[in-house]
Amino acid sequence: MQEILITEEEIQQKVSELGAQLTEEYKDKFPLVVGILKGSLPFMGDLIQKIDAHLEFDLMDVSSYGNELVSSGEVKIVKDLNTSVEGRDVLILEDIIDSGNTLSYIVKLFHYRQAKSVKIVTLLDKPEGRQKEIYPDLAGFTVPDKFVVGYGLDYIERYRNLPYIGVLKPEIYQK
Ligand code: PRP
Ligand code: MN
Ligand code: MG
Repeated sequence: MQEILITEEEIQQKVSELGAQLTEEYKDKFPLVVGILKGSLPFMGDLIQKIDAHLEFDLMDVSSYGNELVSSGEVKIVKDLNTSVEGRDVLILEDIIDSGNTLSYIVKLFHYRQAKSVKIVTLLDKPEGRQKEIYPDLAGFTVPDKFVVGYGLDYIERYRNLPYIGVLKPEIYQK
């Protein structure tokens, strides 16, 4: 690892803050919380425990990157939701928004499927990578345009299990 960008303590502190905000927002609703696999899994697991409200959660697996470093712009559904979003207050959880391709596709899809509301919470926002006009309703941290891994984020499936966010040494992916 080149550097640790966000420590485990900083992540957990932020997750608690986000959980408190979402508790306020959703305490009188019954949101459908949608985690986007695989990257959002650690964030989702921690965050839902900090939301003190009734909620339902489901998982969707879409892929835009495959094992490539640069987004192809194509999004495909690998596993769809088991739950209908029609008439639901949907809260999408992501580990990172980079180009915005993944979320712009999902948000359009959920509107098309007649969700009542669609909001986005992302742990990390990388605004310099953006290709689509898409903004999170809540974001934990803004990150620079570097290759970040950990806490769900991978490089060829590795590093997802780290409890912190780090910047990968360029020599690891520049061969
Ligand atoms: C990563 C990340 C986001 C998406 C963000 O997922 O977890 O879902 O890319 O990039 P974008 O804003 O440019 O679309 P990836 O497709 O790599 O799948 P993974 O979560 O299984 O690693
Ligand atoms: Mn992902
Ligand atoms: Mg990935």
